[in-house]
Amino acid sequence: MAESESTSRVPPARRRAASSPPWRHRHLLSLADLSRDDYEVVFDLAEACLPEVLTPSEERLDLIGRSIVNLFYEDSTRTRVSFARAARLLSGDVHDLPVAGTSVNKGESLLDTARTLWAMGTDVLVVRHASSGVPAMLARAFDWCVVNAGDGRHEHPTQGLLDVFTMRKRLGPDLSGRTVLIVGDVVNSRVARSNIIALNAHGARVVCVGPPALVPDGLAALGVEVARDFDAALQQVDVVVMLRMQFERMAGRGMASIREHRAGYALTLDRAARLPDHALIMHPGPANLGLEIDPEVAALPNSVIAEQVTHGVAIRMAVLRLVTETRERDREPVM
Ligand code: NCD
Repeated sequence: MAESESTSRVPPARRRAASSPPWRHRHLLSLADLSRDDYEVVFDLAEACLPEVLTPSEERLDLIGRSIVNLFYEDSTRTRVSFARAARLLSGDVHDLPVAGTSVNKGESLLDTARTLWAMGTDVLVVRHASSGVPAMLARAFDWCVVNAGDGRHEHPTQGLLDVFTMRKRLGPDLSGRTVLIVGDVVNSRVARSNIIALNAHGARVVCVGPPALVPDGLAALGVEVARDFDAALQQVDVVVMLRMQFERMAGRGMASIREHRAGYALTLDRAARLPDHALIMHPGPANLGLEIDPEVAALPNSVIAEQVTHGVAIRMAVLRLVTETRERDREPVM
């Protein structure tokens, strides 16, 4: 990116290269809303942002004067810090609101909390909630940008983007014909749903592997194959995405026993040794080390778990910039 672009005080909406395909989304609620071109726009921008994540070299002013609020009704380490870091790297004014520290505990409703934040001039609301659809409802309610940071079992769009960005950087931009295994607690996973949408858009083959309680046959309706035999499936794959066992969502119906689950579906050293040499090992985190994935496996050279976290900041820089640009463009008078 040209230096004059990244350091300019000209509003970002007027600074996008005229030749790049337009990004028209003011919110990021679901990856189902993105076109194939949209993925290229967000990945190109994330690529340009990536060097800044580990070695910030210049002050970027893309979000100067913009207020970004992280409103998290569920626990989070990486997603919350990642959005905050992304916004700060673009000089945004970040307010981090884990709900434990808010008036929600005094009985304020979700909509009242949102109205209060909006009335203070919040430009971007980054929201995580246990109920699917909350980000979409808040996007309709006020004039701001909303980014879904995980809603129930529905979606986690920035995680889907950072996962596919990581696969493309390692395997090349063309994922068509590549096989991605998504293993374990798929039914409870918003990460899996966003990954499936993004991978389908890229023409990849997605196989979900696990016991029927966690990987029901009906998942095939999402455009994936369902498999039960992890050992057979892992012989010919390009990527294995291990998911956290989300006990908080299982209500006792998830798995027969930890020992049985490990026997069938944990990524152990033994199983990892049978993966093709080029195959990537991924996990969105937080991982239950010793349950779905062994600590030695997470530390193997073909594990890209730490890279996923780094890429997450670059993806969120790109998303924050794109949605705010759209909002500013929408507000500009048409000549
Ligand atoms: C995931 C989430 O919260 O959806 N974590 C994350 O954001 N990296 C996955 C999980 O909780 O298992």
